[in-house]
Amino acid sequence: MKALVLAGGTGSRLRPLSHSMPKQLIPIANKPVLAHCLESLAAIGVRDVGVIVGDRGDEIRASAGDGSAFGLRLTYLQQDRPRGLAHCVQIARPFLGDDDFVMYLGDNMLVGGIASLAEEFHRTRAAAQVTVTKVTDPREYGVAEVDADGRVTALVEKPLHPRSDLAVIGVYFFTPEIHSAVRRIEPSARGELEITDAIALLVDEGRQVNAGRFEGYWKDTGRIEDVLDCNRELLSTITTGIEGSVDAASELIGEVIIERGARVTRSRIVGPVMIAAGSVVTDSRLGPYTTVGRDCRLRGAGVEQSIVLDSVAVTQVRGIHGSVLGRGARVRSVPADAHRRLVLGDDTEVEIAA
Ligand code: G1P
Repeated sequence: MKALVLAGGTGSRLRPLSHSMPKQLIPIANKPVLAHCLESLAAIGVRDVGVIVGDRGDEIRASAGDGSAFGLRLTYLQQDRPRGLAHCVQIARPFLGDDDFVMYLGDNMLVGGIASLAEEFHRTRAAAQVTVTKVTDPREYGVAEVDADGRVTALVEKPLHPRSDLAVIGVYFFTPEIHSAVRRIEPSARGELEITDAIALLVDEGRQVNAGRFEGYWKDTGRIEDVLDCNRELLSTITTGIEGSVDAASELIGEVIIERGARVTRSRIVGPVMIAAGSVVTDSRLGPYTTVGRDCRLRGAGVEQSIVLDSVAVTQVRGIHGSVLGRGARVRSVPADAHRRLVLGDDTEVEIAA
């Protein structure tokens, strides 16, 4: 079985972060969403992976490389602009040939992996198998109606009046039958070739389409809140590993990972917290649920429930909560009566005590 990973798209709901990095590279537990996805694919025994990229393809390539770090062989496939998930299948046809394949949306996180879903597909070998999970508002998703045997009886993309609470999430298993269905659909109201429509065509023609239930934690990391929530979820599974240096005046509580080359001095770290290599934390309070990327400088900082990307500097600012600090961001305090200099990128969001 091959895999097709979709790593195009614009990530407009993740601005400003998506101005400077493709959304698939946003780190969750200090690792790009895309890396989590590739690990899950390697874990089910896939080797050949096609990666659909758009205009941010260079950054995706620079991050995932040839895939050997994951035990995979990656082939990059260029899409001129976002034209829908079914369009991705269309342009990947020469790469996919007549193999079965799993399609994985590169901004989806399925914590715990997809092994049982893959096993179900191998066992039943339905024409297609979608993955479903219960959601509170199905109107934002593809929605499946499923019978008692787990067979999909109807499938609609973002219905105004959903007839089920089962959302189709970002992992699909296909036999080559999908290709003829993809050829026969028309663009939707949003001007895209919807994979949901192609699968619905198979259902209408009486082909077997199954729904694999995903019971674990799932997120489409489309918005900042989702990214933070996902980060908390993954951090809740870490176990302590201290390879960096921690001085005697510091206190570590709960599960804390400090990578080699990171230094913690006179600080209180309340896990779960991860601090990546090369970062220096001094006179600070970190955590819980906080990740610090590489080469950061945190002095007199207070950061909790947050994601700090690489090369960030925070100086004498406490009370940072539920925040995401992009690469190279600098946050520092000034006296209360001083001017505040702000150099904010497009779509940045700042809160300052009045
Ligand atoms: C896409 C699919 C939708 C699915 C969702 C899962 O939506 O079209 O059926 O439920 O991914 O994340 P999009 O993110 O393109 O709006």
